[in-house]
Amino acid sequence: METAQRMRSFHTSVFMDLHALKQEYEQKSGKSALDFSLGSPNIAPESSIMDVLSKAVLVPKNYRYAINPLPSMIKAIQDWYQKRYDVFLESDEIALLQGSQEALINIPLIFCDPLDGVLVPDPYYPAYIDAPKLAGATILYMPLRKENEYLIDFDQISENDRKNAKIMIVCYPNNPTGAIAPDSFYTRLIQFAKENDILVLYDNAYSELVFEGKPGKSFLSFPGAKEVGVELNSFSKTYGMAGARLGVLVGNKDVIHQYKILKSNMDYGVFLPIQYAGIQALKHGGASIVKTREEYERRRDLLIQRFANSGWTIPKSAATMFLWAPIPACYENSLEFSKQLLKQCGIIVTPGLSFGKEGERYVRIALVVNEEQIEEAAKRIQEARSSLF
Ligand SMILES: Cc1ncc(COP(=O)(O)O)c(C=O)c1O
Repeated sequence: METAQRMRSFHTSVFMDLHALKQEYEQKSGKSALDFSLGSPNIAPESSIMDVLSKAVLVPKNYRYAINPLPSMIKAIQDWYQKRYDVFLESDEIALLQGSQEALINIPLIFCDPLDGVLVPDPYYPAYIDAPKLAGATILYMPLRKENEYLIDFDQISENDRKNAKIMIVCYPNNPTGAIAPDSFYTRLIQFAKENDILVLYDNAYSELVFEGKPGKSFLSFPGAKEVGVELNSFSKTYGMAGARLGVLVGNKDVIHQYKILKSNMDYGVFLPIQYAGIQALKHGGASIVKTREEYERRRDLLIQRFANSGWTIPKSAATMFLWAPIPACYENSLEFSKQLLKQCGIIVTPGLSFGKEGERYVRIALVVNEEQIEEAAKRIQEARSSLF
């Protein structure tokens, strides 16, 4: 069966290669591999959220199509944005999503004709390039570099790219680098978007996972943001609800209006029991956010300290559930190193190359295993130290 041209830019992921190595390791060593690759949270939602969900699934009328979100869901989102970020949202500034990934895919389809440009950070969360590819748009990379604290360098965006770009995707707290942005960055971003007539798609999936007591921010809390953009937020990482798909797209009214038009042709909304669970999370999930954040912070500090004992120095990430770890100089690239780490230690990390060219000399470590497994990983690295580094 001949696929469409657009499929030619999609390939199976590096995880296929890594999967074969994982099986080999487990057979040879008799030990389980330790998986730090996927950003899939292993911290369950707070029990009251699961209670609400489990009760709601037993109510027959909750199985109807949910074309429009529940008014109480919209109200809970408005209250949360007001309380958390001091941002006032009208109900027509809100779209409810089956996870925030949904909007990452749909926004370029709504706004880009073939060859329109989408400015994307490099390294990137993979959906940032999949969506423009589907839309036939041109991807315009914006390198995020350590010397610039992984912030977008607006001065480096060429005149041509400014002219061609229709959308700019921005993500802080950033996956995969773990960086956050100062207030001055947001002011510059809004000014840049206005000057160049670019729609900002702000991905705030990790807004609640900022460490060292710093507050997470909303792009929309900065003056002028609603004129130029929309923000995504997700229940996946904040409340551990990744499989119970729920997210929000909020901000510019016209964008939300267009979004709802496409959505009304594509799906029938979010399963009502998941909406009830989401309302519970927004209203009463605050304490669990603190616990989740503290757990990731503890894992981050433990891993950095233990891996350093073997000579692998990993910088602290300011936020998210990820560490962006430089690979040892003796390896050609991140895939090479990831394979050796798996072969010798049974540790699975994501090669930085799968997040773009700028990730060539990094691997991403997701803090999705418990402290005992981090200790075990550190022990294995210590044992393999002389051949690994
Ligand atoms: C940066 C970023 N944005 C968006 C998503 C998608 O999240 P979800 O669709 O689960 O809300 C993820 C998931 O890992 C992510 O890391």
